Amino acid sequence: MNIAVVGSGYVGLVAGACFAELGHDVYLVDNDPKKLAVLESGGVPIHEEFLPKLLAKHRGKRIKYTGDLGAAVQASEAIFVAVGTPPTKQGDADLSYVESVAQGVAGAINGYKVVVEKSTVPVYTNEWIRKVMLLNRIAPDLFDVCSNPEFLREGTAVTDFLYPDRIVVGANTDKAMEVMRNVYKPLTDGSYYKQKDIIPAPKNAPPIPPPLIETSAKSAEMIKHASNAFLAMKISYINAVACMCEEVGANIEQVVAGVGSDIRIGPRFLAPGVGYGGSCFPKDVLAFRSVARDCGYDFNLLDEVMKINEEQRQRFLRKVRSALWTLRGKRLAVLGLAFKGGTDDIRDSPAIMTVQALLREGCNIRAYDPAAMDRAKEELPSSVEYASDPYDACKDADAVLILTEWADFANLDLKKLYSVVRYPIVVDGRNLYKRQVMKSAGFTYHSVGRETIAPDDPSIEAEHARNAGA
Ligand code: UDX
Ligand code: UDX
Repeated sequence: MNIAVVGSGYVGLVAGACFAELGHDVYLVDNDPKKLAVLESGGVPIHEEFLPKLLAKHRGKRIKYTGDLGAAVQASEAIFVAVGTPPTKQGDADLSYVESVAQGVAGAINGYKVVVEKSTVPVYTNEWIRKVMLLNRIAPDLFDVCSNPEFLREGTAVTDFLYPDRIVVGANTDKAMEVMRNVYKPLTDGSYYKQKDIIPAPKNAPPIPPPLIETSAKSAEMIKHASNAFLAMKISYINAVACMCEEVGANIEQVVAGVGSDIRIGPRFLAPGVGYGGSCFPKDVLAFRSVARDCGYDFNLLDEVMKINEEQRQRFLRKVRSALWTLRGKRLAVLGLAFKGGTDDIRDSPAIMTVQALLREGCNIRAYDPAAMDRAKEELPSSVEYASDPYDACKDADAVLILTEWADFANLDLKKLYSVVRYPIVVDGRNLYKRQVMKSAGFTYHSVGRETIAPDDPSIEAEHARNAGA
Protein backbone atom coordinates (compact mmCIF):
# COMPACT_ATOMS: atom_id res chain seq x y z
CA MET A 1 0.00 0.00 0.00
CA ASN A 2 0.99 3.66 -0.33
CA ILE A 3 1.24 5.20 3.13
CA ALA A 4 2.08 8.72 4.28
CA VAL A 5 3.55 9.28 7.73
CA VAL A 6 3.46 12.93 8.83
CA GLY A 7 6.06 13.84 11.43
CA SER A 8 9.46 12.15 11.29
CA GLY A 9 10.14 12.23 15.00
CA TYR A 10 10.66 9.46 17.50
CA VAL A 11 7.40 7.81 16.49
CA GLY A 12 6.88 8.81 12.85
CA LEU A 13 10.33 7.78 11.74
CA VAL A 14 10.11 4.36 13.38
CA ALA A 15 6.56 3.79 12.09
CA GLY A 16 7.58 4.79 8.55
CA ALA A 17 10.66 2.56 8.58
CA CYS A 18 8.64 -0.39 9.87
CA PHE A 19 5.79 0.12 7.37
CA ALA A 20 8.45 -0.04 4.63
CA GLU A 21 9.86 -3.17 6.26
CA LEU A 22 6.36 -4.68 6.01
CA GLY A 23 6.44 -4.03 2.25
CA HIS A 24 4.51 -0.74 1.98
CA ASP A 25 5.61 2.32 0.00
CA VAL A 26 6.05 5.13 2.52
CA TYR A 27 6.18 8.93 2.17
CA LEU A 28 7.84 10.29 5.32
CA VAL A 29 6.70 13.91 5.66
CA ASP A 30 8.18 16.57 7.88
CA ASN A 31 7.99 20.35 8.00
CA ASP A 32 11.52 20.72 9.35
CA PRO A 33 13.84 21.08 6.34
CA LYS A 34 16.92 20.46 8.53
CA LYS A 35 15.53 17.14 9.69
CA LEU A 36 14.62 16.16 6.09
CA ALA A 37 18.12 17.04 4.90
CA VAL A 38 19.68 14.82 7.56
CA LEU A 39 17.34 11.95 6.66
CA GLU A 40 17.83 12.32 2.91
CA SER A 41 21.60 12.24 3.32
CA GLY A 42 21.27 8.94 5.19
CA GLY A 43 21.53 10.39 8.70
CA VAL A 44 19.51 8.97 11.59
CA PRO A 45 18.51 11.79 14.02
CA ILE A 46 17.45 9.49 16.86
CA HIS A 47 19.14 6.69 18.78
CA GLU A 48 17.11 3.54 18.04
CA GLU A 49 18.47 0.03 17.59
CA PHE A 50 17.81 -1.36 14.05
CA LEU A 51 16.55 2.03 12.75
CA PRO A 52 19.76 2.83 10.82
CA LYS A 53 19.59 -0.63 9.22
CA LEU A 54 15.93 -0.21 8.16
CA LEU A 55 16.39 3.33 6.82
CA ALA A 56 19.49 2.28 4.84
CA LYS A 57 17.65 -0.76 3.48
CA HIS A 58 14.56 1.16 2.31
CA ARG A 59 15.74 4.74 1.65
CA GLY A 60 15.06 5.77 -1.94
CA LYS A 61 13.24 2.48 -2.54
CA ARG A 62 10.21 2.06 -0.27
CA ILE A 63 10.87 5.23 1.76
CA LYS A 64 10.69 8.70 0.21
CA TYR A 65 11.26 11.81 2.35
CA THR A 66 9.32 14.93 1.51
CA GLY A 67 8.25 18.29 2.90
CA ASP A 68 5.25 18.29 0.56
CA LEU A 69 2.32 17.05 2.63
CA GLY A 70 -0.14 17.56 -0.25
CA ALA A 71 1.75 15.34 -2.67
CA ALA A 72 2.15 12.65 -0.03
CA VAL A 73 -1.58 12.77 0.73
CA GLN A 74 -2.54 12.46 -2.94
CA ALA A 75 -0.26 9.47 -3.41
CA SER A 76 -1.39 7.59 -0.29
CA GLU A 77 -4.39 5.56 0.88
CA ALA A 78 -3.64 6.02 4.60
CA ILE A 79 -2.11 9.13 6.23
CA PHE A 80 -0.59 8.53 9.70
CA VAL A 81 -0.33 11.64 11.86
CA ALA A 82 2.69 11.36 14.14
CA VAL A 83 3.43 14.97 14.90
CA GLY A 84 4.24 16.23 18.37
CA THR A 85 1.47 16.63 20.94
CA PRO A 86 3.47 18.45 23.64
CA PRO A 87 1.79 19.53 26.91
CA THR A 88 0.52 23.11 27.12
CA LYS A 89 1.22 25.17 30.28
CA GLN A 90 -2.17 24.05 31.64
CA GLY A 91 -1.06 20.42 31.10
CA ASP A 92 -3.38 19.42 28.31
CA ALA A 93 -2.07 18.17 24.97
CA ASP A 94 -1.29 20.86 22.39
CA LEU A 95 -3.07 19.56 19.30
CA SER A 96 -2.28 22.50 17.06
CA TYR A 97 0.15 20.44 14.98
CA VAL A 98 -2.43 17.70 14.57
CA GLU A 99 -4.95 20.29 13.44
CA SER A 100 -2.54 21.83 10.94
CA VAL A 101 -1.90 18.41 9.43
CA ALA A 102 -5.65 17.74 9.21
CA GLN A 103 -6.03 21.02 7.33
CA GLY A 104 -3.17 20.02 5.05
CA VAL A 105 -4.86 16.71 4.30
CA ALA A 106 -8.17 18.40 3.62
CA GLY A 107 -6.47 20.77 1.22
CA ALA A 108 -5.01 17.98 -0.88
CA ILE A 109 -7.55 15.17 -0.72
CA ASN A 110 -8.22 13.63 -4.15
CA GLY A 111 -10.11 10.49 -3.26
CA TYR A 112 -11.03 8.28 -0.28
CA LYS A 113 -8.39 8.53 2.45
CA VAL A 114 -7.99 7.13 5.94
CA VAL A 115 -6.48 9.67 8.35
CA VAL A 116 -4.83 7.81 11.24
CA GLU A 117 -3.92 9.26 14.64
CA LYS A 118 -0.57 7.79 15.60
CA SER A 119 0.51 10.45 18.08
CA THR A 120 -0.83 10.10 21.57
CA VAL A 121 -3.95 12.23 21.57
CA PRO A 122 -6.75 12.71 24.08
CA VAL A 123 -10.08 11.02 23.53
CA TYR A 124 -12.36 13.13 21.23
CA THR A 125 -9.41 14.12 19.00
CA ASN A 126 -10.81 11.78 16.38
CA GLU A 127 -14.03 13.79 16.35
CA TRP A 128 -12.10 17.07 16.14
CA ILE A 129 -10.12 15.90 13.13
CA ARG A 130 -13.40 14.86 11.50
CA LYS A 131 -14.85 18.32 12.19
CA VAL A 132 -11.78 20.02 10.68
CA MET A 133 -12.15 17.97 7.50
CA LEU A 134 -15.90 18.70 7.23
CA LEU A 135 -15.30 22.41 7.96
CA ASN A 136 -12.90 22.32 5.02
CA ARG A 137 -15.86 21.11 2.96
CA ILE A 138 -14.59 17.57 2.43
CA ALA A 139 -17.47 15.20 1.65
CA PRO A 140 -17.96 12.72 4.55
CA ASP A 141 -17.68 9.72 2.23
CA LEU A 142 -14.24 10.85 1.07
CA PHE A 143 -12.48 10.11 4.36
CA ASP A 144 -12.49 8.32 7.68
CA VAL A 145 -10.48 9.08 10.79
CA CYS A 146 -8.97 6.18 12.76
CA SER A 147 -6.97 5.89 15.95
CA ASN A 148 -3.94 3.59 15.93
CA PRO A 149 -2.01 4.40 19.13
CA GLU A 150 1.63 3.41 19.39
CA PHE A 151 3.09 1.60 22.41
CA LEU A 152 6.71 2.10 21.43
CA ARG A 153 9.33 2.42 24.16
CA GLU A 154 12.35 4.51 23.24
CA GLY A 155 15.44 2.41 22.66
CA THR A 156 13.35 -0.62 21.64
CA ALA A 157 10.87 1.12 19.34
CA VAL A 158 11.60 -0.96 16.22
CA THR A 159 11.15 -4.32 17.92
CA ASP A 160 8.18 -2.95 19.89
CA PHE A 161 6.59 -2.08 16.52
CA LEU A 162 7.38 -5.38 14.75
CA TYR A 163 6.83 -7.65 17.79
CA PRO A 164 3.97 -5.86 19.59
CA ASP A 165 1.88 -7.29 22.45
CA ARG A 166 -1.10 -6.08 20.46
CA ILE A 167 -2.07 -3.77 17.62
CA VAL A 168 -4.96 -1.48 18.52
CA VAL A 169 -7.07 0.06 15.76
CA GLY A 170 -10.04 2.28 16.47
CA ALA A 171 -12.28 2.89 13.42
CA ASN A 172 -15.89 3.91 13.03
CA THR A 173 -16.53 2.32 9.60
CA ASP A 174 -15.80 -1.12 8.17
CA LYS A 175 -14.24 0.48 5.11
CA ALA A 176 -11.62 2.20 7.25
CA MET A 177 -11.06 -0.91 9.39
CA GLU A 178 -10.43 -2.92 6.20
CA VAL A 179 -7.73 -0.46 5.12
CA MET A 180 -6.09 -0.75 8.55
CA ARG A 181 -6.25 -4.56 8.46
CA ASN A 182 -4.30 -4.42 5.19
CA VAL A 183 -1.69 -2.08 6.66
CA TYR A 184 -0.87 -4.58 9.42
CA LYS A 185 -1.60 -7.79 7.48
CA PRO A 186 2.09 -8.83 7.16
CA LEU A 187 2.22 -8.92 10.98
CA THR A 188 -1.22 -10.28 11.81
CA ASP A 189 -1.03 -13.07 9.20
CA GLY A 190 2.50 -13.90 10.35
CA SER A 191 3.99 -13.63 6.85
CA TYR A 192 6.57 -11.01 7.89
CA TYR A 193 8.07 -13.36 10.44
CA LYS A 194 8.60 -16.06 7.78
CA GLN A 195 10.70 -13.81 5.53
CA LYS A 196 14.51 -13.89 5.42
CA ASP A 197 16.64 -11.02 6.73
CA ILE A 198 13.98 -9.68 9.09
CA ILE A 199 14.53 -7.77 12.33
CA PRO A 200 15.20 -10.45 14.98
CA ALA A 201 12.71 -10.97 17.78
CA PRO A 202 13.72 -9.37 21.10
CA LYS A 203 14.26 -11.57 24.16
CA ASN A 204 10.97 -12.36 25.96
CA ALA A 205 9.11 -11.33 22.75
CA PRO A 206 5.32 -11.65 22.94
CA PRO A 207 3.70 -14.49 20.95
CA ILE A 208 3.49 -13.98 17.16
CA PRO A 209 1.40 -13.20 15.23
CA PRO A 210 0.16 -10.29 17.34
CA PRO A 211 -3.58 -9.82 17.85
CA LEU A 212 -5.31 -6.93 16.09
CA ILE A 213 -7.72 -5.39 18.60
CA GLU A 214 -10.50 -3.60 16.72
CA THR A 215 -12.37 -0.93 18.68
CA SER A 216 -14.20 2.33 18.22
CA ALA A 217 -11.98 5.38 17.71
CA LYS A 218 -12.75 6.71 21.19
CA SER A 219 -11.88 3.42 22.85
CA ALA A 220 -8.55 3.27 21.03
CA GLU A 221 -7.69 6.79 22.17
CA MET A 222 -8.67 5.79 25.71
CA ILE A 223 -6.54 2.59 25.57
CA LYS A 224 -3.40 4.60 24.93
CA HIS A 225 -3.85 7.05 27.78
CA ALA A 226 -5.10 4.34 30.16
CA SER A 227 -2.11 2.09 29.35
CA ASN A 228 0.52 4.79 29.82
CA ALA A 229 -1.09 6.11 32.98
CA PHE A 230 -1.28 2.59 34.40
CA LEU A 231 2.42 1.99 33.71
CA ALA A 232 3.33 5.31 35.31
CA MET A 233 1.11 4.42 38.28
CA LYS A 234 2.86 1.06 38.62
CA ILE A 235 6.22 2.85 38.84
CA SER A 236 4.97 5.39 41.37
CA TYR A 237 3.37 2.60 43.35
CA ILE A 238 6.61 0.64 43.69
CA ASN A 239 8.48 3.86 44.49
CA ALA A 240 6.02 4.52 47.31
CA VAL A 241 6.55 0.97 48.59
CA ALA A 242 10.32 1.61 48.38
CA CYS A 243 9.86 4.66 50.63
CA MET A 244 7.98 2.46 53.11
CA CYS A 245 10.86 -0.05 52.98
CA GLU A 246 13.31 2.72 53.86
CA GLU A 247 11.20 3.69 56.86
CA VAL A 248 10.81 0.16 58.23
CA GLY A 249 14.17 -1.32 57.15
CA ALA A 250 12.76 -3.78 54.62
CA ASN A 251 14.50 -4.43 51.30
CA ILE A 252 12.59 -3.34 48.17
CA GLU A 253 14.54 -5.80 46.02
CA GLN A 254 13.09 -8.69 48.06
CA VAL A 255 9.65 -7.06 48.16
CA VAL A 256 9.64 -6.72 44.34
CA ALA A 257 10.67 -10.37 43.97
CA GLY A 258 7.78 -11.41 46.21
CA VAL A 259 5.17 -9.07 44.72
CA GLY A 260 6.27 -9.41 41.08
CA SER A 261 6.08 -13.21 41.18
CA ASP A 262 2.28 -12.91 41.28
CA ILE A 263 1.42 -13.42 37.59
CA ARG A 264 -1.43 -10.91 37.95
CA ILE A 265 1.15 -8.26 38.89
CA GLY A 266 4.27 -9.41 37.01
CA PRO A 267 7.86 -8.33 37.69
CA ARG A 268 8.12 -5.72 34.91
CA PHE A 269 7.81 -2.00 35.57
CA LEU A 270 8.45 -2.60 39.26
CA ALA A 271 11.97 -1.12 39.24
CA PRO A 272 12.17 1.59 41.94
CA GLY A 273 14.39 4.58 41.34
CA VAL A 274 14.56 8.33 40.88
CA GLY A 275 11.19 8.14 39.13
CA TYR A 276 9.95 8.11 35.55
CA GLY A 277 10.67 10.70 32.89
CA GLY A 278 10.62 10.89 29.11
CA SER A 279 8.39 12.56 26.55
CA CYS A 280 5.45 10.28 27.24
CA PHE A 281 4.66 9.34 30.83
CA PRO A 282 4.81 12.85 32.32
CA LYS A 283 2.88 14.32 29.38
CA ASP A 284 0.36 11.49 29.06
CA VAL A 285 -0.51 11.33 32.77
CA LEU A 286 -1.00 15.10 32.74
CA ALA A 287 -3.12 14.94 29.55
CA PHE A 288 -5.20 12.04 30.85
CA ARG A 289 -5.78 13.99 34.08
CA SER A 290 -6.88 17.04 32.13
CA VAL A 291 -9.14 15.01 29.80
CA ALA A 292 -10.76 13.46 32.89
CA ARG A 293 -11.37 16.89 34.36
CA ASP A 294 -12.86 18.10 31.05
CA CYS A 295 -15.27 15.15 30.93
CA GLY A 296 -16.27 15.73 34.54
CA TYR A 297 -14.50 12.85 36.25
CA ASP A 298 -12.08 13.74 39.07
CA PHE A 299 -9.27 11.25 38.45
CA ASN A 300 -7.39 12.21 41.65
CA LEU A 301 -5.38 8.99 41.57
CA LEU A 302 -3.34 10.49 38.72
CA ASP A 303 -2.45 13.48 40.92
CA GLU A 304 -0.96 11.05 43.42
CA VAL A 305 1.00 9.27 40.66
CA MET A 306 2.57 12.60 39.67
CA LYS A 307 3.15 13.69 43.27
CA ILE A 308 4.96 10.47 44.22
CA ASN A 309 7.10 10.77 41.08
CA GLU A 310 8.11 14.34 41.89
CA GLU A 311 8.78 13.41 45.54
CA GLN A 312 11.06 10.57 44.46
CA ARG A 313 13.49 13.07 42.93
CA GLN A 314 13.42 15.23 46.07
CA ARG A 315 14.14 12.17 48.21
CA PHE A 316 17.12 11.33 46.03
CA LEU A 317 18.57 14.81 46.54
CA ARG A 318 18.15 14.41 50.30
CA LYS A 319 20.00 11.09 50.02
CA VAL A 320 22.90 12.80 48.28
CA ARG A 321 22.95 15.50 50.96
CA SER A 322 22.89 12.90 53.74
CA ALA A 323 25.73 11.00 52.06
CA LEU A 324 27.96 14.07 51.82
CA TRP A 325 26.90 16.16 54.83
CA THR A 326 27.53 19.41 52.86
CA LEU A 327 27.08 19.84 49.09
CA ARG A 328 28.58 23.27 48.28
CA GLY A 329 31.80 22.87 46.30
CA LYS A 330 31.62 19.09 46.28
CA ARG A 331 32.76 17.26 43.09
CA LEU A 332 30.03 14.85 42.01
CA ALA A 333 30.37 12.24 39.28
CA VAL A 334 27.06 11.74 37.47
CA LEU A 335 26.56 8.51 35.54
CA GLY A 336 23.57 8.90 33.23
CA LEU A 337 21.78 11.91 31.69
CA ALA A 338 19.13 10.25 29.44
CA PHE A 339 15.67 9.70 30.91
CA LYS A 340 16.32 5.95 30.74
CA GLY A 341 18.97 3.54 29.50
CA GLY A 342 19.21 2.74 25.78
CA THR A 343 18.22 6.19 24.50
CA ASP A 344 19.76 9.61 23.84
CA ASP A 345 16.54 11.39 24.82
CA ILE A 346 16.71 13.81 27.75
CA ARG A 347 13.14 15.11 27.58
CA ASP A 348 11.83 15.28 31.17
CA SER A 349 14.88 13.31 32.30
CA PRO A 350 15.10 12.84 36.08
CA ALA A 351 18.89 12.85 35.65
CA ILE A 352 18.90 16.30 34.05
CA MET A 353 16.57 17.69 36.72
CA THR A 354 18.73 16.21 39.49
CA VAL A 355 21.90 17.71 37.96
CA GLN A 356 20.20 21.13 37.74
CA ALA A 357 19.16 20.90 41.41
CA LEU A 358 22.70 19.93 42.48
CA LEU A 359 24.20 22.79 40.47
CA ARG A 360 21.86 25.13 42.34
CA GLU A 361 23.35 23.73 45.58
CA GLY A 362 26.81 24.72 44.40
CA CYS A 363 28.10 21.26 43.40
CA ASN A 364 30.65 20.69 40.62
CA ILE A 365 29.33 18.09 38.18
CA ARG A 366 31.32 15.82 35.89
CA ALA A 367 28.92 13.65 33.86
CA TYR A 368 29.08 10.70 31.49
CA ASP A 369 26.29 9.17 29.38
CA PRO A 370 26.84 6.73 26.48
CA ALA A 371 24.39 8.55 24.15
CA ALA A 372 22.81 11.67 25.67
CA MET A 373 25.75 14.03 26.31
CA ASP A 374 25.30 16.07 23.11
CA ARG A 375 21.66 16.74 23.87
CA ALA A 376 22.51 17.44 27.54
CA LYS A 377 25.08 20.05 26.50
CA GLU A 378 22.27 22.06 24.88
CA GLU A 379 20.29 21.93 28.09
CA LEU A 380 22.83 22.22 30.94
CA PRO A 381 25.08 25.20 31.83
CA SER A 382 28.64 25.15 30.51
CA SER A 383 29.95 24.65 34.07
CA VAL A 384 29.08 20.94 33.72
CA GLU A 385 32.08 18.86 32.63
CA TYR A 386 31.65 15.84 30.34
CA ALA A 387 33.77 12.72 30.59
CA SER A 388 34.87 10.18 28.01
CA ASP A 389 33.89 7.16 30.11
CA PRO A 390 32.47 6.36 33.56
CA TYR A 391 35.89 6.21 35.27
CA ASP A 392 36.93 9.54 33.75
CA ALA A 393 33.73 11.01 35.20
CA CYS A 394 34.54 9.59 38.65
CA LYS A 395 38.12 10.92 38.93
CA ASP A 396 38.55 12.58 42.37
CA ALA A 397 34.80 12.48 42.92
CA ASP A 398 33.45 13.07 46.42
CA ALA A 399 30.57 10.77 45.43
CA VAL A 400 29.33 8.86 42.38
CA LEU A 401 25.64 9.29 41.46
CA ILE A 402 23.95 6.71 39.21
CA LEU A 403 20.92 8.38 37.58
CA THR A 404 20.16 6.32 34.42
CA GLU A 405 19.78 2.57 34.13
CA TRP A 406 22.38 2.02 31.36
CA ALA A 407 23.67 -1.56 31.30
CA ASP A 408 27.22 -0.10 31.11
CA PHE A 409 26.77 1.32 34.63
CA ALA A 410 25.65 -2.00 36.11
CA ASN A 411 28.96 -3.75 35.31
CA LEU A 412 31.64 -1.28 36.33
CA ASP A 413 35.09 -2.49 37.41
CA LEU A 414 34.64 -1.53 41.05
CA LYS A 415 38.33 -1.96 41.87
CA LYS A 416 39.19 0.55 39.17
CA LEU A 417 36.36 2.83 40.31
CA TYR A 418 37.68 2.71 43.89
CA SER A 419 41.13 3.73 42.68
CA VAL A 420 39.90 6.87 40.88
CA VAL A 421 37.34 8.36 43.31
CA ARG A 422 38.28 10.69 46.15
CA TYR A 423 35.66 9.23 48.53
CA PRO A 424 34.27 5.69 47.95
CA ILE A 425 30.62 6.78 48.11
CA VAL A 426 27.96 5.69 45.58
CA VAL A 427 24.40 7.05 45.58
CA ASP A 428 22.51 4.79 43.19
CA GLY A 429 19.17 6.12 41.92
CA ARG A 430 18.52 2.97 39.88
CA ASN A 431 19.52 0.12 42.26
CA LEU A 432 21.96 -1.35 39.74
CA TYR A 433 24.09 -3.20 42.31
CA LYS A 434 23.72 -5.80 45.05
CA ARG A 435 24.58 -4.03 48.31
CA GLN A 436 27.08 -6.67 49.42
CA VAL A 437 29.03 -6.29 46.16
CA MET A 438 29.49 -2.58 46.81
CA LYS A 439 30.44 -3.14 50.46
CA SER A 440 33.05 -5.76 49.55
CA ALA A 441 34.52 -3.32 47.02
CA GLY A 442 34.98 -0.81 49.86
CA PHE A 443 32.13 1.58 49.00
CA THR A 444 29.50 3.21 51.17
CA TYR A 445 26.45 2.49 49.04
CA HIS A 446 23.16 4.42 49.24
CA SER A 447 20.25 3.22 47.07
CA VAL A 448 16.44 3.28 46.84
CA GLY A 449 14.28 1.26 49.23
CA ARG A 450 17.24 -0.52 50.82
CA GLU A 451 19.36 0.31 53.83
CA THR A 452 22.69 2.04 53.25
CA ILE A 453 25.64 -0.32 53.51
CA ALA A 454 29.22 0.64 54.33
CA PRO A 455 32.53 -1.19 54.71
CA ASP A 456 33.09 -2.40 58.29
CA ASP A 457 34.33 0.53 60.30
CA PRO A 458 36.71 -0.76 63.00
CA SER A 459 35.74 2.05 65.39
CA ILE A 460 32.03 1.23 65.01
CA GLU A 461 32.79 -2.50 65.33
CA ALA A 462 34.81 -1.79 68.50
CA GLU A 463 31.95 0.33 69.88
CA HIS A 464 29.47 -2.49 69.16
CA ALA A 465 31.82 -4.94 70.90
CA ARG A 466 32.19 -2.60 73.92
CA ASN A 467 28.41 -2.12 74.12
CA ALA A 468 27.91 -5.88 73.77
CA GLY A 469 30.43 -6.44 76.53
CA ALA A 470 28.83 -3.83 78.84
C1 UDX B 1 4.95 12.39 19.06
C2 UDX B 1 4.06 12.94 20.13
O1 UDX B 1 4.75 14.04 20.74
C3 UDX B 1 3.81 11.92 21.19
O2 UDX B 1 2.73 12.38 22.01
C4 UDX B 1 3.38 10.63 20.62
O3 UDX B 1 3.38 9.65 21.65
C5 UDX B 1 4.28 10.20 19.49
O4 UDX B 1 4.45 11.23 18.50
P1 UDX B 1 7.49 12.35 18.88
O5 UDX B 1 7.57 11.54 17.64
O6 UDX B 1 8.55 12.24 19.90
O7 UDX B 1 6.18 12.08 19.67
O8 UDX B 1 7.36 13.87 18.42
P2 UDX B 1 8.62 14.67 17.87
O9 UDX B 1 9.87 13.96 18.15
O10 UDX B 1 8.39 16.06 18.36
O11 UDX B 1 8.40 14.60 16.29
C6 UDX B 1 7.38 15.30 15.70
C7 UDX B 1 7.85 15.58 14.26
O12 UDX B 1 6.77 16.16 13.53
C8 UDX B 1 9.01 16.56 14.22
O13 UDX B 1 10.00 16.03 13.39
C9 UDX B 1 8.40 17.82 13.60
O14 UDX B 1 9.31 18.50 12.75
C10 UDX B 1 7.27 17.23 12.77
N1 UDX B 1 6.13 18.13 12.55
C11 UDX B 1 5.60 18.84 13.58
C12 UDX B 1 5.59 18.20 11.23
O15 UDX B 1 6.08 17.57 10.31
N2 UDX B 1 4.51 19.01 11.02
C13 UDX B 1 3.95 19.74 12.04
O16 UDX B 1 3.00 20.48 11.78
C14 UDX B 1 4.52 19.66 13.35
C1 UDX C 1 6.66 4.60 27.52
C2 UDX C 1 5.77 3.38 27.42
O1 UDX C 1 6.46 2.26 27.97
C3 UDX C 1 5.41 3.10 25.98
O2 UDX C 1 4.52 2.02 25.90
C4 UDX C 1 4.76 4.34 25.38
O3 UDX C 1 4.45 4.15 24.02
C5 UDX C 1 5.67 5.53 25.50
O4 UDX C 1 6.04 5.74 26.88
P1 UDX C 1 9.17 5.23 27.16
O5 UDX C 1 8.74 6.49 27.84
O6 UDX C 1 9.93 5.30 25.90
O7 UDX C 1 7.85 4.31 26.85
O8 UDX C 1 10.09 4.40 28.18
P2 UDX C 1 9.78 3.38 29.38
O9 UDX C 1 10.66 2.22 29.17
O10 UDX C 1 8.35 3.16 29.55
O11 UDX C 1 10.32 4.19 30.68
C6 UDX C 1 9.66 5.37 31.04
C7 UDX C 1 10.31 5.91 32.29
O12 UDX C 1 10.02 5.06 33.40
C8 UDX C 1 11.83 6.00 32.22
O13 UDX C 1 12.25 7.19 32.86
C9 UDX C 1 12.30 4.79 33.01
O14 UDX C 1 13.56 5.01 33.61
C10 UDX C 1 11.22 4.69 34.07
N1 UDX C 1 11.00 3.34 34.60
C11 UDX C 1 10.58 2.35 33.77
C12 UDX C 1 11.15 3.13 35.96
O15 UDX C 1 11.53 4.04 36.71
N2 UDX C 1 10.91 1.90 36.48
C13 UDX C 1 10.49 0.86 35.68
O16 UDX C 1 10.29 -0.23 36.19
C14 UDX C 1 10.34 1.09 34.29
